[in-house]
Order: sequence, then structure tokens, then C-alpha cells
Amino acid sequence: MIVVYKSNTGYTKQYAKMLSSKLDVPAYSLDEVPECHRGRDAVFLGWLFAGSIVGYKKAARLCRLRAVCGVGMSPPSQKLTDALRAKMGIPSSVGVFYLQGGFDMEKLSGPFKLVMKYKCREIAERLSLRAELSPEEQATYQMAHGEGSAVSEANLAEVLAYLR
Ligand SMILES: Cc1cc2nc3c(=O)[nH]c(=O)nc-3n(C[C@H](O)[C@H](O)[C@H](O)COP(=O)(O)O)c2cc1C
Repeated sequence: MIVVYKSNTGYTKQYAKMLSSKLDVPAYSLDEVPECHRGRDAVFLGWLFAGSIVGYKKAARLCRLRAVCGVGMSPPSQKLTDALRAKMGIPSSVGVFYLQGGFDMEKLSGPFKLVMKYKCREIAERLSLRAELSPEEQATYQMAHGEGSAVSEANLAEVLAYLR
């Protein structure tokens, strides 16, 4: 069993490293999976881009996936996890999890920055209308102001319980 990840700005990589150390197995970037692990068991973590888990299709071709984690800036919810399974076409035999990651506008390249400036303004405006925010929604609100992280080992508890 190995951990495979696809990360753009590093938050998914942080989760992958935590998971690999908890499971005591190696972690590889999706583009560097050694030949000897191809076709074998893996858990895949990919960052979320417009509701899709980046790298999932390639990871599913390379390895026998036992679980897939999407890492995004939205607050976690069962609805979001279900939507990820449906959108990516992940079979019911594979566990699907959503992990709240982090966001840093400064780490984004030009085109992504432009899209996210607009998107973050929209998210911040929507959340500011709410009387109360959960801690996870507060984390998203913080991220929508340019930078923030919700990465924590505690968020991996469900994935770990599933894999063990
Ligand atoms: C262009 C772009 C699109 C994104 N789309 C989503 C999305 O649909 N849902 C979500 O929750 N987060 C979305 N995000 C936020 C990232 O998934 C989040 O910041 C994630 O933690 C990044 O992981 P990374 O540091 O491993 O790249 C998007 C970010 C960018 C730059």
C-alpha cells in the first residue's frame, strides 16, 4: 500500500505526508509513482479544481485505489463527498473522503489567481451574510480573504479508520 497525491500549492501534499507517516507507508507524487507500485494498492489524494479531484483518472489507471480523498477549501459535508463520488465516477468499492485543505492566493499562478480573486470575493460575500459560522465555515471565510489552512491530523481520522 502506498499514498499517491496530486497537489498544486502544497496542502494536499501535507495531508499525504501525514497519512503516509500514520500508515507507515511511502508517499509519492502522482507523476513519480515507481514502476514496482503500479497496479498495487494505494490511497489517492488530489486537490479540488472546479468540483473535480485533479489526477483521479490517472491515479485509477496506475494503481488499485482503496480510497480517494479530495482536498478543497469548502467546508466539509456529506453532500460534497457524495457529489465528488458521482462527478468522478468512483466505484462504490472505493472509499471517498473530503478533507478541508488550505488556500494561499500568493502561491497561485496568473490565470488561477484571476479566477480565484473573483471566486473568493463571492464566497466571502456569501458567508458574511450568515449570522453564525461553524469553525469549518470560518476557515473557508479566512481562506477567501487570501490565505488560510484547515489542514490537521484530526481531519484524517475517518480515512485512517476506513483503511485500517
Ligand atoms: C482554480 C481553482 C479552483 C478551485 N476549485 C475548488 C473547488 O471546486 N472546490 C473547493 O472546495 N476548493 C477549490 N479550490 C481550492 C483548492 O482545492 C484548495 O485550496 C486546496 O487545498 C489546494 O490544494 P493544494 O495546495 O494541494 O493544491 C480551487 C482552487 C483553485 C486555485
